[in-house]
Amino acid sequence: MRTQQPPAIVVRGLEKSYQDLQVLCGVDLDVEKGSIFALLGSNGAGKTTAVKILSTLLRADAGTASVGGFDVATQPDNVREAISLTGQFAAVDEILSGRENLVLVARLRHLKGTGAIADDLLERFSLTDAGARRVSTYSGGMRRRLDIAMSLIGNPPVIFLDEPTTGLDPEARIEVWKATKELAGRGTTVLLTTQYLEEAEQLADRIAILHQGKIIVNDTLAELRQLLPPAEVEYVEKQPSLEEIFFAVVGETGEDDKYSAAEQPNAKRKTKSNKG
Ligand SMILES: Nc1ncnc2c1ncn2[C@@H]1O[C@H](COP(=O)(O)OP(=O)(O)O)[C@@H](O)[C@H]1O
Ligand SMILES: [Mg+2]
Repeated sequence: MRTQQPPAIVVRGLEKSYQDLQVLCGVDLDVEKGSIFALLGSNGAGKTTAVKILSTLLRADAGTASVGGFDVATQPDNVREAISLTGQFAAVDEILSGRENLVLVARLRHLKGTGAIADDLLERFSLTDAGARRVSTYSGGMRRRLDIAMSLIGNPPVIFLDEPTTGLDPEARIEVWKATKELAGRGTTVLLTTQYLEEAEQLADRIAILHQGKIIVNDTLAELRQLLPPAEVEYVEKQPSLEEIFFAVVGETGEDDKYSAAEQPNAKRKTKSNKG
């Protein structure tokens, strides 16, 4: 990994409760610049809460966090300039075309050459042909890609993708994965939240598991795999999947339909490839 620089995101002892529900109970993590970091957790684990604190939308009860070298509590304006946030529900305007959406955001950010910025992003996200069409005609994957493209306007060094593929069909998920890899390939730091173990496996340089308010695992995929011995001695190539590791660490059995439903296209297990 490209390191030796201060991490893009530093989180220490982060706590957050909603009334008497404690969601984050002391979260620590570092995200290296230019890396993809996956924050993995089940529904309700507190992923969005963490992302909201890091993107200054929510205040922590305790602990500290800095993003791009700025403290989220005391320098929120600087943090906002350094980040973009893409949520689970694409924030695109259905009535406008893809290109118009991009131009609109570029204008809102007071950038010059908004048309060229839009065209460049359409090309990067393989939306050039669809650029003039109303977003209401786009597929889920196209919408999400446009949403990510919009969040890149102004070149924020840090991007938060909060469950970017939840609700997408398998093909669309692969499109979004490609877009995400492309981002990190250009040096953008990506903090991604996901419920999909496969997604973390495919994309992330590091994977942290958020469970019961704490980070219970924070490792590279290779390190995670070493937490469990190979499942079957006779098959030398069989490695424990992240799913097996997850349930071993969390200590529960998997009964998760939504995961297996979304898993289809990449049935082949691939050891993590370096992206770029
Ligand atoms: N504004 C809120 N008020 C009360 N409870 C909330 C609020 N936002 C989230 N929660 C609860 O906090 C927990 C964590 O939510 P969230 O951070 O959205 O989890 P995740 O993104 O991992 O699914 C859930 O139990 C959720 O119901
Ligand atoms: Mg969430």
